[in-house]
Formats: sequence, C-alpha cells, structure tokens
Amino acid sequence: MFLRNYWYAAGFPEELGREFLARTFLNENVVMFRKEDGTPVALEDRCAHRRVPLSLGRLIGDTLECGYHGLQYDCLGKCTRIPGQERIPPKVAVRAYPMAEKHHFLWIWMGDTEKADEYLIPDYSILDRPGLRVSNIQFHMDAHVQLIIDNLLDLSHLTYVHGTTTGSPEISEVADVKTVRKGDAVQVLRWMENVPPAPAFQEFGGYTSNIDSWQVCEFRPPTYVRVSYGSAPAGRGIPDGDWYEDQGDWGFYVYHGLTPETEKRAHHYRYVAFKSGMGDAETIEEFRFQCDQIITEDSVLFPRQQVWIDRDPAETTVWDINSRVEIVHDGGLTVARQIVDNLLTKQQNGNRVNGRKSTKKGKRKSKKPARARAAAS
Ligand code: FES
Ligand SMILES: [Fe+2]
Repeated sequence: MFLRNYWYAAGFPEELGREFLARTFLNENVVMFRKEDGTPVALEDRCAHRRVPLSLGRLIGDTLECGYHGLQYDCLGKCTRIPGQERIPPKVAVRAYPMAEKHHFLWIWMGDTEKADEYLIPDYSILDRPGLRVSNIQFHMDAHVQLIIDNLLDLSHLTYVHGTTTGSPEISEVADVKTVRKGDAVQVLRWMENVPPAPAFQEFGGYTSNIDSWQVCEFRPPTYVRVSYGSAPAGRGIPDGDWYEDQGDWGFYVYHGLTPETEKRAHHYRYVAFKSGMGDAETIEEFRFQCDQIITEDSVLFPRQQVWIDRDPAETTVWDINSRVEIVHDGGLTVARQIVDNLLTKQQNGNRVNGRKSTKKGKRKSKKPARARAAAS
C-alpha cells in the first residue's frame, strides 16, 4: 500500500528523450518519453489489447504504436487507430499519468489525475540556486522505500557506515539530537560542539582543529527527504535562524527522490549540492566520488536488511518491524512512520467511502495501524 496523491521522482530530465524509458512506480508499469516539442509523457506500459508492454513498440511523431498488433495511442492514452477496423470503441485506452519537470527531477503523479497540481512538487529549489553545483546518481534498491527513509533520518549510522568520509564517533556518541514535527513534516537536528572534524570535513572543509558541526534531516510525505550539513571552527556557536540553510564555513545539501517500485524495491535518485568554488576540478571530482561512495555503502545494507526481515521467524515486516529495542536515535524515523501511517489510514478510509464499503452501522474498525493491516492482507 502506498500514498498515491503525490508527485514521485521518476528520474532525471536528461534520461528522457525520444526513446522509451520503461519503469515501475508503485507497482504500476509506466512507459515515458518526450513529445516532439520536448514535453514529458507517461502512459501505462500495457497495451489495452493483449497487455503487451507498449515500451516494446515505437513512436511515430507523438503517437505510440504497440509492437504486437499495431494499435496506436495518443499522449493522453486514447487509442486512435486499430489496424483493419474503423470503429474504435471509446473505452480503448491506457492510463496517462501527469508529469512535470522541476528542480532537476522528473516527477510523476501516481494518484487521481484531477488532483495533480505542480504546486505540490516538493521545494527542492536549492538545487536551482546559482553558485551551487549539483551532482547526481541513481540506484535501484532491492528494499522497501521506508528502510531508506529510516536510514536518512538517523545519521548516527554515519559513524559505522561512512567512517572514512562523513562519519566520526561524536555523531553517534555526543551529538545533541532534537526531533521536531511540523504538521506532516519532521526534522531531525543534530548539533555537535567542539568535536574533531570527520575525514571529509578535514579534506574538503580544510579544518585542522576542532569544529562545531550540525546536520538537519527533513522528511515530508510521501518520501521526500533532504539533508543539510554545516560546520564552523569550534566556538562559533549554534547558527542563528534556519540551521538547514546555514552551512557555516563548509557544508553541503543532499536531496533524495525516493519512489517505491514495489513493496520490495525502490528507485533512489539523489543530488548533492555544494558551493561551486569548493576547490579545483580534482578536489570537486574527489568530493563527488566520496558522495557516491557514501550512498553505495548504504545501498549494500538495505537489500540485506529486507531479506533478513523477510526471513525473520518472528514474521516481522518492514511496516511492523517489531524491533526489540528503540534507541535514542530512532526519534525522527518513528515520527515519519507515524505520519505515513496516519496518511495511509486517511487514504484507506477515503477509498472506502468512495467505494461505499465502510458506512454500514455497527461495522467494527480495525485498531491495527494501516501499514500493519496492509502487510497482513
Ligand atoms: S497487444 Fe498491443 S496491439 Fe495487440
Ligand atoms: Fe548513509
């Protein structure tokens, strides 16, 4: 079960051209391409005739022709030609998904078409900011998207997973951590005072003595996560104003586009944004390399964690992980899961009302969270 009335990252703009790009989002197979004028298009990747992937067909102008029996579709998914017959029944169509291109991401709307509004695309506008360079990478993780969100909201793992770059013992041991919920968003703020700089902060920030260092991780539903790192020579104190924006003398921003492919697989599109004048070309290349190394180190964990959850004799699930211990660093991810759970429950109740299944008097409501109900079904 996934939250549907949201924009999800579908990839990077430079990936999309006149060739078909076939991907699965939220268990739905989608074929994407650009129209002749460059507008991105997304259609259900399943012919209305015999269910063959349309991505095996071809583009003729802005018309998609199925590669099996030649049915043709326009960019709204409507069938416009059936070879050998004049009559085209009006119901012959495939689903069309709204698409948008913003903040260096392609976005796809996976919910009710009439609710798609580009205003709802998350504010990743820092990626457009002059003076910042961006670097991107993508992964397909064999794991549920929520395991990746858990990871991004608990940076205590930097100490153990990224010890050669951004990790240091102080991040998990001495940081002052605050979890702040604002509506349906949650921020985890981590403040470290007078600590030795982690290796990447020495190498790229140029620090030779202790620093004050801060990190802000922010989650918004369904899967939007952005992280900011900042630092300054020890003693300057807590930044005034927005910690997220303030990078002190050295820091960087990380933006994640996370889209469930299935319950056990996720797309992960990631940008790092950093100051253009951070160093010479070689330094910048090394920084990019280390950023990619960091996400690669994480990517090794998720599939194993997923398999181990699946094999758990206690029959845990990603939604009902039934951890034997909740640790001090779990605050942010626990709140994020509560936010998603509430929204899934609302979505489920809305579906029931629309489907007129839940209004019978006397029908008992399950007390289980929406995620647990979905996992058990
Ligand atoms: S399966 Fe597409 S035209 Fe027959
Ligand atoms: Fe990590």
